[in-house]
Amino acid sequence: MTQIVPSKYPLTRMRRNRQADWSRRLTRETYLTKDDLVWALIVHDGEEPRIPVTAMPGVDRLNLDEAVKAAKRARDLGIPALALFPHIDPSRKDDTGSEALNANGFVPSVIRAIKEAVPEIGVMCDVALDPFTTHGHDGVMNEKNKIDNDATLNMLVQQSLVQAAAGVDVIAPSDMMDGRIGAIREALEAHGYKDTMIMSYSAKYASCFYGPYREAVGSGAVLTGDKKTYQMDYGNTDEAIRETALDLQEGADIVMVKPGLPYLDIVYRVSSTFNVPTIVFQISGEYGQIMLASEAGWLDRDKAILETLSSFKRAGADGIVTYFAERAAELLS
Ligand code: PBG
Repeated sequence: MTQIVPSKYPLTRMRRNRQADWSRRLTRETYLTKDDLVWALIVHDGEEPRIPVTAMPGVDRLNLDEAVKAAKRARDLGIPALALFPHIDPSRKDDTGSEALNANGFVPSVIRAIKEAVPEIGVMCDVALDPFTTHGHDGVMNEKNKIDNDATLNMLVQQSLVQAAAGVDVIAPSDMMDGRIGAIREALEAHGYKDTMIMSYSAKYASCFYGPYREAVGSGAVLTGDKKTYQMDYGNTDEAIRETALDLQEGADIVMVKPGLPYLDIVYRVSSTFNVPTIVFQISGEYGQIMLASEAGWLDRDKAILETLSSFKRAGADGIVTYFAERAAELLS
């Protein structure tokens, strides 16, 4: 990047370009558009149409019919894609999260219903075991209460094949096991799912900001311990580069940084290092901060939505997974 040193005041007055709306618009460097949005949806396998998530005011768990309605709404608003996260009845959970492999389970049925009703919308689905395990971890636990990487890979591969068979467009592994992108990619190729995309949660940090999400999918109350043996340490940035490089070598089409706002440096570094499609996740805790502060009257919600989403674009993200996608798309219409 060439840096041109500006001449001095008063020849250079930085405020000249800022003086009018037209000149600010004309000289703006980055733009947020509806095409940048992925709508994060929590779906549940019960009858109740919508169940509010206490820790995420304004977000409901949707049943299958409501999820289809949301997909239509997203299409009508011009949102390119949805990302699905399931809440499963506790009676279907077990040690290994075997419900994740059920080809007739709730998740594949939601994928099928949405793709049938709204074929033009992109459907992404989380791959990880945490909504399905009795211990709330993303992987399988061994006798020593450790998350067993290689035993988990088998599960994730099968979970991905079940989703691919249901017609998901994008497999989104959020589990942070080593080698999972390669294992999933090989299995997809072997089973003829050559066009199924993989969006890897490549640089995913062990973060306290996931708290509200864990309530939403019902993994928080049962979670034993923390996820620090697989999610990244927030002190690290070189590690984000290694993780991303590995996922790209293993066949990821899109990479992701998560969480968003506290990790803008990582978004910038990953996107400028690799020049590959880079998505950022504005996660549940970030959503909650904006909602609580705006409900208290301390922040203007709509402005906070647009400013935070724009900051991701400025940092180099190509797209953003957000619970605010519907509102953002309305504001951008
Ligand atoms: C785990 C998973 C997490 C999120 C989505 N999938 C994090 C976690 O529970 O460790 C977080 C999403 C959010 O906070 O909005 N498979």
